[in-house]
Amino acid sequence: MSRAVVKAYAHAKINLSLEILGKRPDGYHEIVSLMQALALHDSLTFTAAELLTLRSSAAELEMGENLILRAAKLLQAECGISAGVVVELEKRIPVAAGLGGGSSDCAATLLALNEIWGLGLSRERLVSLSLKLGSDIPYFFYGGTALVEGRGETVTPLPAFPFHWVVLVTPRVDLPEKTKTLYGKITPDAYTSGDTTRRLAERVRRGEPVDVSEFSNAFLPILLNESPAVRMCWERLHQAGAEHVLLSGSGPTLYVLLEDESDGRALCALLMGLDAQVQLTTTTSLEQLQSTHFEVTR
Ligand code: C5P
Repeated sequence: MSRAVVKAYAHAKINLSLEILGKRPDGYHEIVSLMQALALHDSLTFTAAELLTLRSSAAELEMGENLILRAAKLLQAECGISAGVVVELEKRIPVAAGLGGGSSDCAATLLALNEIWGLGLSRERLVSLSLKLGSDIPYFFYGGTALVEGRGETVTPLPAFPFHWVVLVTPRVDLPEKTKTLYGKITPDAYTSGDTTRRLAERVRRGEPVDVSEFSNAFLPILLNESPAVRMCWERLHQAGAEHVLLSGSGPTLYVLLEDESDGRALCALLMGLDAQVQLTTTTSLEQLQSTHFEVTR
């Protein structure tokens, strides 16, 4: 064992834009998405041990096959490792909310165990292993602002999208196999070319201003139609004066981008009493992520 303890921050993401182009022969959907990292993060501490153990502030995550344990078992199998690890997870990112919490924890786990177990795997190898566990995971090896294509495996890092305050509203929706179920409800009339998102990404790349009203998400009409909880939050956000209410991933988290902290705090105050988790956070750039992401102690 080459490292004793690794601490990692696993950041949440929002999809600024998410287009679905069509269904692929392998059953997945082809997407084009502009993703953005948030300051909101889970904290993970990995300590070398003989067995594999997960301890979490969200007790339900310790049960069953979550992505942290699956990532550890995949690495053990791929590399013929019998060593274990104790993972302590401080969960802040709402679970199954469209914010990529599970995928981000998974990428952090692969990176940390590569260190702890001294595997020496390249980032490319870890990215390709991560695809066995979920389509959203490759992005988290890059973070920051990125254009994500294919089923999620093609990640093009971009210069940072301008700093924003972000109000996150996560309604209480419990949908088993949420992502799969919602992709199953996508019909061809929801398919688009991906050109709008690619054009937005090109503007970000050139450092040109981007109009938030051009952001869209192919899952939004489905969630508004099928989930009264999402619709109620959507309406409350509009009543509270939010102009552009956006959806992250396959939801159910809605979010609003704001330039000023005071506007973010005022919006949160107006949402008091809403049956949803309301959080105020900010976007974060790749540079900020790199300076805080990993701490290794021998
Ligand atoms: O990749 P992940 O395991 O997160 O995906 C869960 C399910 O969501 C897949 O089995 C598939 O049905 C659907 N999916 C899709 N297209 C994607 C990503 C996910 O159809 N790009």
